[in-house]
Amino acid sequence: MKPASVSDYRELARKRLPPMFFEYIDGGSYAEVTLGRNVRDLEAIALRQRVMRDMSQVQMTMESLGQTFSMPLGLSPVGLAGMYARRGECQAANAAASAGIPFCLSTVGVCSIDEVAATGTAPWFQLYMLKDRGFMRALMAQAKAAGCPVLVFTVDLPVPGSRYRDVRSGFTGATGLSGAVNTAWQGATHLEWFWDVYVRGGPHSLGNVQQAIPGGGRVNDFLAWIARNFDRTVTWADLDFVREVWDGPIVIKGILDPEDGRSAVKAGAQGLIVSNHGGRQLDGAVSSVSALPRLVQAVGDDLEVYLDGGIRSGLDVLKALALGAKACFVGRPWAYALGAGGEDMVSRMLGVMRSELATAMVLTGCSDVRAADKSLLDFTD
Ligand SMILES: Cc1cc2nc3c(=O)[nH]c(=O)nc-3n(C[C@H](O)[C@H](O)[C@H](O)COP(=O)(O)O)c2cc1C
Repeated sequence: MKPASVSDYRELARKRLPPMFFEYIDGGSYAEVTLGRNVRDLEAIALRQRVMRDMSQVQMTMESLGQTFSMPLGLSPVGLAGMYARRGECQAANAAASAGIPFCLSTVGVCSIDEVAATGTAPWFQLYMLKDRGFMRALMAQAKAAGCPVLVFTVDLPVPGSRYRDVRSGFTGATGLSGAVNTAWQGATHLEWFWDVYVRGGPHSLGNVQQAIPGGGRVNDFLAWIARNFDRTVTWADLDFVREVWDGPIVIKGILDPEDGRSAVKAGAQGLIVSNHGGRQLDGAVSSVSALPRLVQAVGDDLEVYLDGGIRSGLDVLKALALGAKACFVGRPWAYALGAGGEDMVSRMLGVMRSELATAMVLTGCSDVRAADKSLLDFTD
């Protein structure tokens, strides 16, 4: 099949990846109510069709936090991408750089900050609050030294939400030897992946945190490490520590509530990502897109408001911009494309999104992403 849409990349990833990795990417927490809402609430928004308005030029480039985006889209941090394709974070970073958009590296990526920066473009770096503040300080110093321009500080994971699919696939709870055996068995039945990732894609450790994980940070030990080291005592006061160490822009990721948005402003953040972690944390929470207008209203003049969760096409991007997002980020879409076939597929998927966005702009009469507003939406239904 020649992939034409994000859902096609998802199908290709399903075929190529061992089930435990596909389910890890695809799934959400508990009954996946919020995961479904993210997508459905975007689908339900109606765009306003306009005609006969000379749309020979559409302007998709925009600036934010000192960065130029060739379109208002970036790649959200996704853990373990190096298990979906060989040195996957580097491949995705290359695709993002070629497309002229930011790539954000996860704390729990397989490739380290330095390995990704060696591709030629330093990534945005995502950090969680960890119990070991000295280790956080070292990671931030490493990110700064590598030239990472923006720190994305994720705040919606003081504890991991339970993901039933990971239990069923054997991804959760299979630490140590039994986990390695399970991975090898699932891999051996997916030969293309086995050869690309398992045989030639090592080391399969978590590049940024391997020093901190007993056994060298094997991927299969990572959920246990998260449970032990993510800090649920964290409050806004702790952000002072991050602010002191990191002297560049900080984007707080995982905000749904306007009061929390105002706290992010007070804490000195330059941006926030309206996000529920792609429906992987608090199941039953509202969709990101339904939380967006309240956040734009509460803090949109004080910092950059981005959105992730449920964006599956360029049309969705335009809907979010119309509701006040400065730019959108995607998680699963790039992880699917990476799993489907590495950098080339990620590049092609980004090309699909770009052309969908351009077409949506023409058909709604929006000639500049920076001017997108509610007038692009149809509220008559
Ligand atoms: C497989 C997977 C791993 C993720 N890992 C991280 C992570 O390490 N750090 C983080 O802040 N968010 C992580 N997220 C959440 C994404 O950054 C993003 O918020 C979410 O995927 C957006 O929703 P979407 O997948 O519908 O685009 C992960 C999401 C997925 C699907």
